[in-house]
Amino acid sequence: MILIILFLVSSIGLALSIVIWSIRNGIAPMPTSPKAKRALLTSLPPTISGSVYELGAGWGTLLMPLSHRYPFSDVVGFETSPLPYFVSRCRLSLMGLSHAKVIRSDFYKADLSDAGLIVCYLYPGAMQRLKVKFEKELKTGTWVISNTFAVPGWDPLQVVEVRDLYRNKIYIYQVVLKT
Ligand SMILES: C[S@@+](CC[C@H](N)C(=O)[O-])C[C@H]1O[C@@H](n2cnc3c(N)ncnc32)[C@H](O)[C@@H]1O
Repeated sequence: MILIILFLVSSIGLALSIVIWSIRNGIAPMPTSPKAKRALLTSLPPTISGSVYELGAGWGTLLMPLSHRYPFSDVVGFETSPLPYFVSRCRLSLMGLSHAKVIRSDFYKADLSDAGLIVCYLYPGAMQRLKVKFEKELKTGTWVISNTFAVPGWDPLQVVEVRDLYRNKIYIYQVVLKT
């Protein structure tokens, strides 16, 4: 009986933590769909110069394949929501990759200036805020790949339509020389 109560209490606690952090972050830890994931992974640049940052790593859905794809870059996922962070961390540990990590930290507070590639799946308000940060911090040549939500005012190099029910798009950008 005590075990059942403990199980129920911890399940409610975990569910509550997801709700609270989704409200705080403005988005739930909804993973990229398998079809969008395939489209995004086939659109990745073959080589990059700098670190790979995933802004909002969720459950690690993209972090794992990104870590495999870029074995010679630091691959860092940011995630503030405790349960998804914990799951991503466990998944990464099981893979035993020393160049990849997930950190429990707000990506708005991170210095992204050494990024070679940024990957995200967020929401319009976050893209608006990130646009300002990207324009301030990212170096020429940095790739930005966003699932579903465009960087407002930026011209994508390519837009890939995902063959799913919603016809979601993957936006691919490369930072051009600043004037
Ligand atoms: C829609 S999910 C995408 C998860 C993963 N990137 C994927 O594509 O499967 C967005 C994630 O971003 C996280 N997030 C939102 N704002 C954040 C912030 N400022 N710092 C860190 N993580 C954030 C949320 O907690 C959520 O897990």
